[in-house]
Amino acid sequence: MSGPFTIAIDGPAGAGKGTLGRRVADHYRLHLLDTGLTYRAVAHDMLKKGLPLDDEERAVAAARAIDLSRLDREVLSAHAVGEAASQVAVIPAVRRTLVEKQREFARTPPGAVLDGRDIGTVVCPDADVKLYVTASAGVRARRRLAEIEARHGTADYDQILADIERRDARDMGRTDSPLKPAPDAHLLDTSEMDIEAAFLAAKAIIDEVLAKRNEA
Ligand code: C5P
Repeated sequence: MSGPFTIAIDGPAGAGKGTLGRRVADHYRLHLLDTGLTYRAVAHDMLKKGLPLDDEERAVAAARAIDLSRLDREVLSAHAVGEAASQVAVIPAVRRTLVEKQREFARTPPGAVLDGRDIGTVVCPDADVKLYVTASAGVRARRRLAEIEARHGTADYDQILADIERRDARDMGRTDSPLKPAPDAHLLDTSEMDIEAAFLAAKAIIDEVLAKRNEA
């Protein structure tokens, strides 16, 4: 095998990229970076300091200060932080700063799984495997609701669905690095799949690429 092995997983909020990424990284013993957490960390910093989310200079400073090894998923997973993250994510200078850090992470041997919105298109256009994971907005909203209820929280399905649709529109409609499948991405629609089925589908794709790489 030559060079670090990179697996890019992209797709909209709640499609199951995070869970799939963890399964894949564990199975192939690769590093894992949820790049959504990097945008969330910038947003969290801005919210904590009471700064407007469109303050480019402060947002870039926050992005520069981020340490990828210290991203606190517990704190960053709050719904409001995700919403704010999609607002700082439209600022090109913030994206450039974070993308540089993400690329450096991807170069760490033996390789990495990165999940996000623009991994296969912008961050790692030469990734060995590109997966684009989707599910219908209704299915994603039901999964989110089930997650919240499992943690004994309460939420309204219609509200979650509206939030998901608004976030999709912002992520797919922005000018810089919009969410879209790379031309060479494998599409994985998980609407009717559980995590095991999604993992097996991903594994079949990855194993084929690994077999070819080992032959070369
Ligand atoms: O995936 P997650 O919900 O944590 O991402 C939060 C927000 O960060 C997304 O809605 C998106 O706007 C932004 N993001 C991005 N590019 C990535 C990962 C996340 O723009 N690679």
